[in-house]
Amino acid sequence: MSRLLSAAELSAPVSQLPPAAYFDEALLARERELLFARGPGYVGHELMVPNAGDYAVLASRNNAHALTRTERGVNMISNVCRHRQAIMLDGRGSLAQNGGNVVCPLHRWTYSGEGELIGAPHFACNPELNLQNKGLKAWNGLLFDGPRDPVVDLAALSAQTRQTLDFSGYVFNRSVVHDCDYNWKTFVEVYLEDYHVGPFHPGLGQFVTCDDLAWEWGREFSVQTVGLSRGFDKPGSPTYKRWHDQVMQFRNGVPPEQGAIWLTYYPNITVEWYPHTLVVSSLWPQSVSKTVNVVEFYYAEEVALFEPDFIVAPEIASGRLVPILADFAPPALPVHAAYPSRRHLSAKVRAFVDFLAERAAA
Ligand code: FES
Ligand SMILES: [Fe+2]
Repeated sequence: MSRLLSAAELSAPVSQLPPAAYFDEALLARERELLFARGPGYVGHELMVPNAGDYAVLASRNNAHALTRTERGVNMISNVCRHRQAIMLDGRGSLAQNGGNVVCPLHRWTYSGEGELIGAPHFACNPELNLQNKGLKAWNGLLFDGPRDPVVDLAALSAQTRQTLDFSGYVFNRSVVHDCDYNWKTFVEVYLEDYHVGPFHPGLGQFVTCDDLAWEWGREFSVQTVGLSRGFDKPGSPTYKRWHDQVMQFRNGVPPEQGAIWLTYYPNITVEWYPHTLVVSSLWPQSVSKTVNVVEFYYAEEVALFEPDFIVAPEIASGRLVPILADFAPPALPVHAAYPSRRHLSAKVRAFVDFLAERAAA
C-alpha cells in the first residue's frame, strides 16, 4: 500500500541561505567571533622561509606580521615597530645583511629574528619593548596561530590524502592576493559545488572529471578527490594541450593517478593538489561584500627550478594568463669572457674559454 504525501508535508529543497546572510553586518561580526577567532588561524607555510635568516611578510595578516626563520625554528613576529609603529619588512627576503636582525627603517630600532629588541639608538637604556612572537602549530609544514589544533582536526584524513598533501620536496613559488567582491561564504559554497568546474574552469574541466568525485568527511574538514578526465589524452584546445604536454613530458609519459584533491579545512582554508603542484588558499573577510583570498603556490622542487613552462601552463589553460607576442624573441645578449692577456694564457684558462665559446654559440 502506498501513501501519498500532502503538499504541506513536502518541503522544497534548500539550496542557499537567505540573501540577508550575505549582507548582514551583525552576522559577519558573529562569524568572525565564532568561526574565525575560534578557528585554526592559517598563517603560511614553513617553505616560505626555507633558510635561517629568511623572512616573509604575510599578506593574509595585512602585512602586520612576518614569518622569520632562525636557527631555533620558524617564528611569526609582529612587523610593526614598537617605537612609532612603522611597518619594517616588505615582501620576502633575507635578514642576513643585518646579521639576522630586523632593523626598523625609521629610527633603526633593531630586533632579533625572534622579536627581541636588541638596540634602540638615542635611548640611554633598552626600552625592553619586544615584538609580539606568537607560538605556532604545524601540520605538514602549514602553520597556524588559532586556538584549534590542526593535528587533532585533521587526524581523520585518510592515509592517501595525508600522503598526497605532503609538502616534502616542494618549494614555495609565489603568493597572489585576489580581491573578491563578494561575501566569503559565497566562495566556500561555490568551491564545494563541483558542478561549477565545467563551466567556470573549462581548462581544468578537461583535465579532471567530477563524474567520479569521491568525498571524505571530518568534523572540521571535507576532501574532494576527482579523477583524470577521459579526454585527458585528447587535449581539446591549444591552451589545454600546452598544460597536458607539460604534465606528460615531466612524467615521462605516465598519466597521474588522479586529477586533483581539494581539502577544505573549515572555515576558510583550502589545500589543493594537482600533479607536482600544491596550492593553499585562505579567505579573509574584509566586509560583508569584500573578501581577500591569499593564494600560495608550491611546486615540486625539480619543477620550480627547471620547468617554468609547467608553472605558467595551467594559468594559460585556465585563461588567467594569455600568451601575447608568441613569436617574439628578445635580442640576444652579448656574453664576454674577460681574462688578463691572450699571451701566456694557461692551458686550463684556454680550455675553459673554449668551452664557454662553444656553449654560448649553441
Ligand atoms: S618607528 Fe621604528 S625605530 Fe622609530
Ligand atoms: Fe573553482
